[in-house]
Amino acid sequence: MELSTTPTELITSKLKTQQFYKDVIAGLQGTPKRLSSKYFYDANGDKLFQDLMNCEEYYPTKCELEIFSEKTAELGEAMINGGDAFDLIELGAGDAMKSSHLLKYLLKKKADFTYLPIDISDNIISYLNITLPVILPGLKVTGLNGEYFDMLTKANVSSNRRKVVMFLGSNIGNMPVNEAIDFCRQVREHLSAGDRMLIGIDLKKNPKTILAAYNDKEGITKRFNLNLLDRINRELNADFNLGQFDHYPVYDPETGSCKSYLISLADQVVKINGKENIHFLKDEYIFMEISQKYTLEQTDQMAIASGFKTTNHFFDSKQWFIDAVWIAE
Ligand code: AVJ
Repeated sequence: MELSTTPTELITSKLKTQQFYKDVIAGLQGTPKRLSSKYFYDANGDKLFQDLMNCEEYYPTKCELEIFSEKTAELGEAMINGGDAFDLIELGAGDAMKSSHLLKYLLKKKADFTYLPIDISDNIISYLNITLPVILPGLKVTGLNGEYFDMLTKANVSSNRRKVVMFLGSNIGNMPVNEAIDFCRQVREHLSAGDRMLIGIDLKKNPKTILAAYNDKEGITKRFNLNLLDRINRELNADFNLGQFDHYPVYDPETGSCKSYLISLADQVVKINGKENIHFLKDEYIFMEISQKYTLEQTDQMAIASGFKTTNHFFDSKQWFIDAVWIAE
């Protein structure tokens, strides 16, 4: 709920639109064409992702929620670890639904901690700052609005307590394997030896189960992808005809990568901001998103490759998803 817009907010939002424009043009002028899935999440995209999480085929959120509600004590104890005060940092907190189970447990155990949710969305951060202390009395919350690594640096400046970083929801899957390792290494660089990371990762499983999660019958995933074209229309004054693009998801059991494409159904030209003409051939694709899946062994290897060691594995009952606790070496 925005009551007024300050000059700083105006400038920030203008800069964000400029960056969005630059990324979209670069992605669509390149070969092959691509868009970044980080732009899926405008207000419409947030809503569609909520619908996705509730749809029958999309299992990752349900699995992780099961872990957080069934293994709360074990997860909590892995964080309390003896008892000294800590900062609990969450990268991309969203509505903090999953974490709230854990937060409640930590409060009950009188753990000395502050919750620092980091999110790129200022709406989410003000929502969390206001609602969490009401839902969870006694919780100390300091929401940080900005880029993950800038905000991790800020968290280090403001307190020298030990850190526990949460990166949930298999958001790590939105990066190809090498980038994912790089990302975890950067997290490690912002931590000290003995600090912890709780990371949620979607595991390899029956390829049909995975593909169905990204190809739901109701067509929510399709709308989720098409929404980015619609967002470009709205925010960057473009004229994508959404009916001229189809959603095409693939899953490769060999590499574990699930990828989404939008396929142009015709030869067409799309005009962006009244000046950039983007030509599409019939059947040409736009690469939209990767959702990488891992084996258990690969998750342990990723920990080691980025300067951590695995201390705990928490699974859902189907073993489709893992929340792993890593300790910084
Ligand atoms: C939020 C990145 C974990 O990749 O599974 C859901 C996003 N994309 N359906 C995922 C998504 C298509 C989701 N993550």
